[in-house]
Amino acid sequence: MERKQFLRSLGAGAAFAITFPCLQGCSSDDGEGPVIPIPEGVDFTVDLESAEGAPLAENGGYILKNDIVVVKNLTGQFVAASQICSHQQTDQVRFIESNGGIFRCSTHGSEFDQNGTPLNTITNNPLKIFNTELNGNILRVFE
Ligand code: FES
Repeated sequence: MERKQFLRSLGAGAAFAITFPCLQGCSSDDGEGPVIPIPEGVDFTVDLESAEGAPLAENGGYILKNDIVVVKNLTGQFVAASQICSHQQTDQVRFIESNGGIFRCSTHGSEFDQNGTPLNTITNNPLKIFNTELNGNILRVFE
């Protein structure tokens, strides 16, 4: 059977599905997870004395909350960045202690400094960084 004849026998829908499997961006079909919007309108608090805030007691510790990576960096400063990567919007951004402390997305390996500046060529899009403010034991994360 010729290819054309084969495709005709499948019908137009099946032929389209075979020919253009990735028109939606492939993100949900390629095992990398869904595309997630980068957080907006962020304004929340973390009680550093609570179980939720406990990982922030140590330099290099971080928590994930509301799609934000909240970090106590290696010099004891609080930093918050989008957990949603600026490359293809997976939620795999984490803080790692390499190079003085950077953000890294495990999906394709994008890395960002603590200001959100890309450190490799996987993406030129900066990682969104949020403000932090400490009042007693309450850490506020906001835009
Ligand atoms: S989605 Fe994060 S590196 Fe590609």
